[in-house]
Amino acid sequence: MARHDEKPLINGADRYVDDDSSSEQGSDHIPTIRRKDSTLRKALWWGFIVLPWMMLCVLGVSYGYSVRYYRDRYYVRPDLTYSPMQDVVKYETKIFTTGKPDDPDVSLYAQEPSDEVDELWKGLYPSIFQLIPQQQAAKLVNKTSLFPHDPQRRYIIEIDVFHQLHCLNMVRKATRPDYYGVHGDEDTLLGPSHIAHCIDAIRQSLMCASDITPYTWQWDEKLQLHANQVKNPHVCRNFDDLRDWAVANTEQIYPDFFFREMNDPLDPSTWVDGYAGE
Ligand SMILES: *[C@@H]1O[C@H](CO)[C@@H](O)[C@H](O)[C@H]1NC(C)=O
Repeated sequence: MARHDEKPLINGADRYVDDDSSSEQGSDHIPTIRRKDSTLRKALWWGFIVLPWMMLCVLGVSYGYSVRYYRDRYYVRPDLTYSPMQDVVKYETKIFTTGKPDDPDVSLYAQEPSDEVDELWKGLYPSIFQLIPQQQAAKLVNKTSLFPHDPQRRYIIEIDVFHQLHCLNMVRKATRPDYYGVHGDEDTLLGPSHIAHCIDAIRQSLMCASDITPYTWQWDEKLQLHANQVKNPHVCRNFDDLRDWAVANTEQIYPDFFFREMNDPLDPSTWVDGYAGE
């Protein structure tokens, strides 16, 4: 130890030079050997200790990030078919309310029919028609039509959640003929055949989503029985984000379904006048 204190260090790596008898040989010689030795040790140190650990850390951190990214995006419910909305999806937990009128947290949607309640329900599906550009339409599993008369030549889609909400709203209205009137089959929205279509659409959608949130049962002191508790956290898609996207991509004009746009680059059956796609 004393020797190290006496001589100035050649470089910091000298610290790693073992104290051995070689240092007692010719003094001209030793610094070169030492320097080579320390360079090798330094290389070994970096190559076998520092770099592998650094790489491991980088790998670990990126693995952690990707697990979180894919868990957040896809673990809960993978999108196996393309949707132009898949980048909008975010997950969150939400506590459901009971929907019972005596629940202090009862949602406005569950209230007695009124103009205000009607407006709220309609606000859930600002429009069931959305327009998307060609490069998104090209990725759809099924082809879709050009929106009639659209100068931007966008394609029309209908997003299922908004269709389901529209259907549920029709079912809600159909249960209250005292307020919304009695509707025969000639009525397209509240008539029995549209309501039957809606009920089956909602059934399929519920089964498709299959929410597996467990309800719990707790002793209810007031009722003196075990009651199921629906106020449990559910894993949900952030609906507000989805609705914002829908609003931003909405077409309020009711489509002119009788007009067919020709020369749709994605649909050869519409090609006329020598047009052969773009
Ligand atoms: C949409 O594509 C799927 C899968 O190819 C097919 O089974 C289904 O019949 C198609 N639907 C329409 C309306 O073309």
